[in-house]
Amino acid sequence: MTPPTRLIVDVDTGIDDSVALLYLLAREDADIVAVLSTAGNVPTAQVAANNLAWLDLCGRPDIEVAVGADGPLKIPLRTTEDTHGPQGIGYAVLPPSTRALSERSAAQAWIELTRENPGELVALVTGPLTNLALAIRADPELPQRLRRLVVMGGAFQHPGNTTPVAEWNISVDPEAAAEVFAAFSSVPEDRAPIVCGLDVTERIELRPDHLRRLAELADSTPVELIGSDDAPDARSTTSNPIVRHLSDAVRFYFQFHRDHGQGFIAHMHDPFAAAVALDPTIARYRAATVDVETEGRITRGQTVADWHGLWGRSPNAAITWETDADAFLDDLILRLAAFARTVTPPGNRTDR
Ligand code: BDR
Ligand code: CA
Repeated sequence: MTPPTRLIVDVDTGIDDSVALLYLLAREDADIVAVLSTAGNVPTAQVAANNLAWLDLCGRPDIEVAVGADGPLKIPLRTTEDTHGPQGIGYAVLPPSTRALSERSAAQAWIELTRENPGELVALVTGPLTNLALAIRADPELPQRLRRLVVMGGAFQHPGNTTPVAEWNISVDPEAAAEVFAAFSSVPEDRAPIVCGLDVTERIELRPDHLRRLAELADSTPVELIGSDDAPDARSTTSNPIVRHLSDAVRFYFQFHRDHGQGFIAHMHDPFAAAVALDPTIARYRAATVDVETEGRITRGQTVADWHGLWGRSPNAAITWETDADAFLDDLILRLAAFARTVTPPGNRTDR
């Protein structure tokens, strides 16, 4: 049997980051070495608290959680509670964790883990690239020591979701993203970072029926169908804590997407990137040289892809271009359900 993929996961948890985390925990072919917390959707302390709480709920207090920088390299932090809820996890209220955070910073963890496991670790970043950029500043050889980097970020031939041209993760810290893409220009092309931009991730549409099926498959009762017209204080009462908290988190994300004219759906950006990190064959790619606009008056944060070598620089990215969204969503629900069935949270809490 192939050994599980060992992963560094750097997140700004975040509703879809939460789903990504649960999905990775659910997969037997994934071994999360550390969860690193980046400021983005919510401030870094809240991101770390969310990471600890999800790991506790899933019975994984053994996984290291480290905190990253308070904010971007050069500009003040912007957060987006309107997208992800006041705590970043929608309407979910997780029991707070009592365990300690790692004593090392996220940037230190990046450096030390890749030194201890050269060529072995796959890294998944589903938030701004601040921690990774800081780590590379301190240790420019770091990109050479990763087996592969997978990033959720950017919008290539697709509108942005934060400005007309910029995607959120890149837009929060464009300097960090520019530095990371430049640093990875030195790795061989067959190990170029995989970049999951909005071009593909906005095609991954989770719907209420998926969550209904999740509850059904997890034997969680009652099986609920989240509706767009539900009362504002509607919350899940289903028996399985993972299904219940996930439903409360994603309900908020459905409403956010609806309120922005995208329908009562939720884009699963980060879970898709997590799946790609474990199995790149689920997508097809286009090679390009990617750079990030850091100056533009109205284009700051735009990811520019040179598809045709016009800059005379080698490709530094494999951009996800096509995938079978339904197959991925089926896999997501099946694995989350199987996982939810097996996990008994510590003390079988009476939390909600
Ligand atoms: C990205 O922005 C965040 O709000 C999501 O968690 C995802 O990582 C999508 O643009
Ligand atoms: Ca994210």
